[in-house]
Amino acid sequence: PQRPILIQGPMPIEAEKFAERLENVKAEESGSTFEFYSGTVEGYPVIVVKTGKGMANTGAATALAIEKYNPAAIINQGTSGGHDPALNVFDIVLGKRSVNIGALKTGDLVEGEGIEPTEWKPMDLMASEGSAGEDPDAENIRYNDGDEGLLAAANAVKDTYTKGKVVEGTIGSADFWNNEVDRINWLHEKYGTSVEEMETASAAQISAAYDIPFLGIRILSNNKTNEGAYNPDTASANQDYVYEVVKEYISTL
Ligand code: 5AD
Repeated sequence: PQRPILIQGPMPIEAEKFAERLENVKAEESGSTFEFYSGTVEGYPVIVVKTGKGMANTGAATALAIEKYNPAAIINQGTSGGHDPALNVFDIVLGKRSVNIGALKTGDLVEGEGIEPTEWKPMDLMASEGSAGEDPDAENIRYNDGDEGLLAAANAVKDTYTKGKVVEGTIGSADFWNNEVDRINWLHEKYGTSVEEMETASAAQISAAYDIPFLGIRILSNNKTNEGAYNPDTASANQDYVYEVVKEYISTL
Protein backbone atom coordinates (compact mmCIF):
# COMPACT_ATOMS: atom_id res chain seq x y z
CA PRO A 1 0.00 0.00 0.00
CA GLN A 2 1.05 3.64 -0.52
CA ARG A 3 2.56 5.34 2.52
CA PRO A 4 0.50 8.44 3.40
CA ILE A 5 1.61 12.06 3.62
CA LEU A 6 1.09 13.42 7.15
CA ILE A 7 0.00 17.05 7.63
CA GLN A 8 0.15 18.47 11.16
CA GLY A 9 -1.62 21.57 12.51
CA PRO A 10 -1.72 22.58 16.21
CA MET A 11 -5.06 24.38 16.61
CA PRO A 12 -8.46 23.51 15.09
CA ILE A 13 -8.20 26.58 12.80
CA GLU A 14 -4.83 25.24 11.62
CA ALA A 15 -6.02 21.73 10.71
CA GLU A 16 -9.72 21.69 9.90
CA LYS A 17 -9.53 23.65 6.66
CA PHE A 18 -7.17 21.05 5.20
CA ALA A 19 -9.17 18.17 6.70
CA GLU A 20 -12.32 19.47 4.96
CA ARG A 21 -10.56 19.16 1.62
CA LEU A 22 -9.77 15.44 2.05
CA GLU A 23 -11.84 12.95 0.08
CA ASN A 24 -13.25 9.82 1.81
CA VAL A 25 -12.32 11.25 5.18
CA LYS A 26 -12.53 9.30 8.45
CA ALA A 27 -11.96 11.07 11.79
CA GLU A 28 -10.43 9.37 14.82
CA GLU A 29 -9.56 10.82 18.23
CA SER A 30 -6.62 9.77 20.37
CA GLY A 31 -6.59 11.03 23.94
CA SER A 32 -8.17 14.44 24.44
CA THR A 33 -5.65 16.34 22.30
CA PHE A 34 -5.11 14.54 18.99
CA GLU A 35 -7.62 14.30 16.15
CA PHE A 36 -6.60 12.28 13.08
CA TYR A 37 -8.40 12.73 9.75
CA SER A 38 -7.51 10.00 7.24
CA GLY A 39 -8.50 10.49 3.62
CA THR A 40 -7.12 11.07 0.16
CA VAL A 41 -6.00 13.95 -2.05
CA GLU A 42 -6.53 13.12 -5.72
CA GLY A 43 -6.63 9.46 -4.72
CA TYR A 44 -3.38 9.52 -2.71
CA PRO A 45 -3.59 8.78 1.06
CA VAL A 46 -3.16 11.86 3.26
CA ILE A 47 -3.58 12.09 7.06
CA VAL A 48 -4.28 15.44 8.72
CA VAL A 49 -3.70 15.61 12.46
CA LYS A 50 -4.68 18.31 14.90
CA THR A 51 -1.82 17.94 17.37
CA GLY A 52 -2.67 20.53 19.99
CA LYS A 53 -0.23 23.34 20.73
CA GLY A 54 3.34 23.09 21.95
CA MET A 55 6.42 20.91 21.84
CA ALA A 56 5.21 17.98 23.99
CA ASN A 57 1.89 17.54 22.18
CA THR A 58 3.62 17.76 18.83
CA GLY A 59 6.44 15.35 19.65
CA ALA A 60 3.97 12.79 20.98
CA ALA A 61 1.59 13.25 18.02
CA THR A 62 4.49 12.78 15.62
CA ALA A 63 5.73 9.53 17.22
CA LEU A 64 2.18 8.19 17.46
CA ALA A 65 1.42 8.99 13.80
CA ILE A 66 4.67 7.37 12.67
CA GLU A 67 3.79 4.16 14.54
CA LYS A 68 0.15 4.20 13.37
CA TYR A 69 0.51 5.24 9.72
CA ASN A 70 4.17 4.86 8.61
CA PRO A 71 4.04 8.16 6.66
CA ALA A 72 6.26 8.79 3.61
CA ALA A 73 6.68 12.44 4.59
CA ILE A 74 5.57 14.87 7.30
CA ILE A 75 4.67 18.57 7.00
CA ASN A 76 4.17 20.63 10.15
CA GLN A 77 2.26 23.80 9.31
CA GLY A 78 0.46 26.64 11.02
CA THR A 79 0.91 30.21 12.22
CA SER A 80 3.98 31.99 13.61
CA GLY A 81 5.35 35.29 14.84
CA GLY A 82 7.91 37.18 12.74
CA HIS A 83 11.51 37.65 13.90
CA ASP A 84 12.56 39.32 10.65
CA PRO A 85 11.25 42.84 9.91
CA ALA A 86 11.39 42.06 6.16
CA LEU A 87 8.56 39.52 6.65
CA ASN A 88 4.93 40.63 6.89
CA VAL A 89 1.73 39.05 8.17
CA PHE A 90 0.56 36.55 5.46
CA ASP A 91 4.13 35.86 4.25
CA ILE A 92 5.08 32.16 4.43
CA VAL A 93 8.38 30.68 5.64
CA LEU A 94 9.53 27.30 4.33
CA GLY A 95 11.69 25.77 7.05
CA LYS A 96 15.04 25.21 5.34
CA ARG A 97 15.97 24.44 8.94
CA SER A 98 14.33 24.47 12.36
CA VAL A 99 15.70 24.86 15.86
CA ASN A 100 14.51 24.46 19.46
CA ILE A 101 15.06 27.97 20.87
CA GLY A 102 13.92 26.97 24.35
CA ALA A 103 16.75 24.49 25.03
CA LEU A 104 19.12 26.53 27.19
CA LYS A 105 21.80 26.19 29.85
CA THR A 106 22.26 29.10 32.25
CA GLY A 107 25.53 30.58 33.41
CA ASP A 108 27.10 29.59 36.74
CA LEU A 109 25.93 32.23 39.25
CA VAL A 110 25.80 31.94 43.03
CA GLU A 111 22.94 33.15 45.21
CA GLY A 112 22.47 36.91 44.92
CA GLU A 113 24.11 37.17 41.47
CA GLY A 114 20.76 37.34 39.71
CA ILE A 115 19.32 35.99 36.45
CA GLU A 116 21.09 36.78 33.15
CA PRO A 117 19.01 35.49 30.21
CA THR A 118 21.24 36.99 27.50
CA GLU A 119 24.14 34.92 28.90
CA TRP A 120 22.25 31.65 28.61
CA LYS A 121 23.80 29.21 26.18
CA PRO A 122 22.07 27.02 23.63
CA MET A 123 21.85 23.37 24.70
CA ASP A 124 21.74 20.42 22.33
CA LEU A 125 19.89 17.51 23.94
CA MET A 126 20.79 15.27 20.99
CA ALA A 127 24.57 15.87 21.21
CA SER A 128 25.24 12.71 23.20
CA GLU A 129 23.63 10.27 25.60
CA GLY A 130 25.56 11.85 28.49
CA SER A 131 24.59 14.76 30.74
CA ALA A 132 23.71 17.85 28.71
CA GLY A 133 24.67 19.95 31.75
CA GLU A 134 28.26 18.66 31.76
CA ASP A 135 29.00 17.64 28.15
CA PRO A 136 30.87 20.51 26.37
CA ASP A 137 29.58 19.18 23.00
CA ALA A 138 26.05 19.97 24.21
CA GLU A 139 26.80 23.73 24.16
CA ASN A 140 25.69 23.83 20.58
CA ILE A 141 22.74 24.99 18.49
CA ARG A 142 21.04 21.92 16.97
CA TYR A 143 19.43 22.65 13.60
CA ASN A 144 17.34 20.10 11.70
CA ASP A 145 17.28 20.57 7.94
CA GLY A 146 14.04 20.60 5.95
CA ASP A 147 13.82 17.78 3.38
CA GLU A 148 15.06 18.74 -0.10
CA GLY A 149 12.25 16.97 -1.96
CA LEU A 150 9.55 18.67 0.12
CA LEU A 151 11.33 22.03 -0.23
CA ALA A 152 11.49 21.57 -4.01
CA ALA A 153 7.74 20.82 -4.16
CA ALA A 154 6.97 23.87 -2.00
CA ASN A 155 9.13 26.13 -4.16
CA ALA A 156 7.56 24.73 -7.35
CA VAL A 157 4.07 25.99 -6.35
CA LYS A 158 5.16 29.30 -4.77
CA ASP A 159 3.41 31.31 -7.47
CA THR A 160 -0.01 29.84 -6.59
CA TYR A 161 0.17 31.83 -3.34
CA THR A 162 -0.92 35.44 -3.82
CA LYS A 163 -1.51 36.79 -0.29
CA GLY A 164 2.18 37.39 0.47
CA LYS A 165 5.63 36.09 -0.39
CA VAL A 166 7.00 32.59 0.16
CA VAL A 167 10.62 32.44 1.37
CA GLU A 168 13.02 29.86 2.78
CA GLY A 169 14.14 30.50 6.36
CA THR A 170 14.75 29.27 9.89
CA ILE A 171 11.82 28.29 12.12
CA GLY A 172 12.48 28.60 15.88
CA SER A 173 10.25 26.69 18.31
CA ALA A 174 9.67 26.70 22.08
CA ASP A 175 6.78 26.82 24.51
CA PHE A 176 6.92 30.60 24.78
CA TRP A 177 5.45 33.65 23.07
CA ASN A 178 7.86 36.59 22.91
CA ASN A 179 6.48 40.12 22.91
CA GLU A 180 9.77 41.77 23.91
CA VAL A 181 11.30 43.12 20.70
CA ASP A 182 14.82 43.18 22.16
CA ARG A 183 14.49 39.50 23.03
CA ILE A 184 13.11 38.74 19.56
CA ASN A 185 16.07 40.58 18.01
CA TRP A 186 18.47 38.65 20.27
CA LEU A 187 16.99 35.31 19.13
CA HIS A 188 17.03 36.48 15.51
CA GLU A 189 20.76 37.31 15.74
CA LYS A 190 21.82 34.30 17.80
CA TYR A 191 19.83 31.60 15.98
CA GLY A 192 19.08 33.26 12.62
CA THR A 193 15.36 32.76 13.15
CA SER A 194 12.86 34.06 10.59
CA VAL A 195 9.84 33.23 12.78
CA GLU A 196 8.94 31.69 16.14
CA GLU A 197 6.19 29.24 16.99
CA MET A 198 5.71 26.29 19.32
CA GLU A 199 5.87 23.06 17.29
CA THR A 200 8.08 22.63 14.23
CA ALA A 201 11.38 21.79 15.97
CA SER A 202 9.82 19.00 18.03
CA ALA A 203 8.21 17.37 14.97
CA ALA A 204 11.50 17.77 13.06
CA GLN A 205 13.44 16.08 15.87
CA ILE A 206 11.15 13.04 15.98
CA SER A 207 10.92 12.80 12.17
CA ALA A 208 14.74 12.80 12.04
CA ALA A 209 14.88 10.03 14.67
CA TYR A 210 12.77 7.85 12.34
CA ASP A 211 14.45 9.12 9.14
CA ILE A 212 11.23 10.49 7.65
CA PRO A 213 11.37 13.46 5.22
CA PHE A 214 10.10 16.55 7.06
CA LEU A 215 9.31 20.19 6.34
CA GLY A 216 7.86 23.04 8.44
CA ILE A 217 5.69 25.55 6.57
CA ARG A 218 4.74 28.56 8.69
CA ILE A 219 2.72 31.64 7.84
CA LEU A 220 3.18 34.85 9.84
CA SER A 221 0.04 35.65 11.84
CA ASN A 222 1.87 38.46 13.66
CA ASN A 223 5.18 40.30 13.66
CA LYS A 224 6.23 42.45 16.65
CA THR A 225 9.31 43.74 14.79
CA ASN A 226 7.28 45.70 12.24
CA GLU A 227 3.94 46.21 14.01
CA GLY A 228 2.30 43.36 12.11
CA ALA A 229 -0.97 42.89 14.01
CA TYR A 230 -2.25 39.35 14.73
CA ASN A 231 -4.58 38.01 12.03
CA PRO A 232 -6.10 34.52 12.56
CA ASP A 233 -7.21 34.33 8.89
CA THR A 234 -3.59 33.47 8.08
CA ALA A 235 -4.19 29.91 9.40
CA SER A 236 -6.55 29.04 6.57
CA ALA A 237 -4.45 30.81 3.90
CA ASN A 238 -1.50 28.62 4.90
CA GLN A 239 -3.56 25.43 4.56
CA ASP A 240 -4.62 26.47 1.05
CA TYR A 241 -0.96 26.83 0.10
CA VAL A 242 0.09 23.57 1.82
CA TYR A 243 -2.68 21.77 -0.12
CA GLU A 244 -0.94 22.88 -3.35
CA VAL A 245 2.41 21.71 -1.95
CA VAL A 246 0.96 18.28 -1.15
CA LYS A 247 -0.51 17.85 -4.65
CA GLU A 248 2.85 18.81 -6.16
CA TYR A 249 4.80 16.46 -3.85
CA ILE A 250 2.47 13.54 -4.58
CA SER A 251 3.03 14.06 -8.32
CA THR A 252 6.78 13.46 -7.75
CA LEU A 253 6.35 10.16 -5.85
N1 5AD B 1 4.98 33.11 19.31
C1 5AD B 1 4.77 31.82 19.60
N2 5AD B 1 3.85 31.04 18.99
C2 5AD B 1 3.11 31.59 18.01
N3 5AD B 1 2.11 31.10 17.21
C3 5AD B 1 1.70 32.11 16.41
N4 5AD B 1 2.41 33.22 16.65
C4 5AD B 1 3.28 32.94 17.65
C5 5AD B 1 4.26 33.72 18.35
N5 5AD B 1 4.46 35.02 18.08
C6 5AD B 1 1.51 29.76 17.20
C7 5AD B 1 2.18 28.66 18.01
C8 5AD B 1 1.05 28.04 18.86
C9 5AD B 1 -0.05 29.07 18.85
C10 5AD B 1 -0.09 29.88 20.10
O1 5AD B 1 0.20 29.92 17.73
O2 5AD B 1 2.77 27.72 17.14
O3 5AD B 1 0.55 26.85 18.28
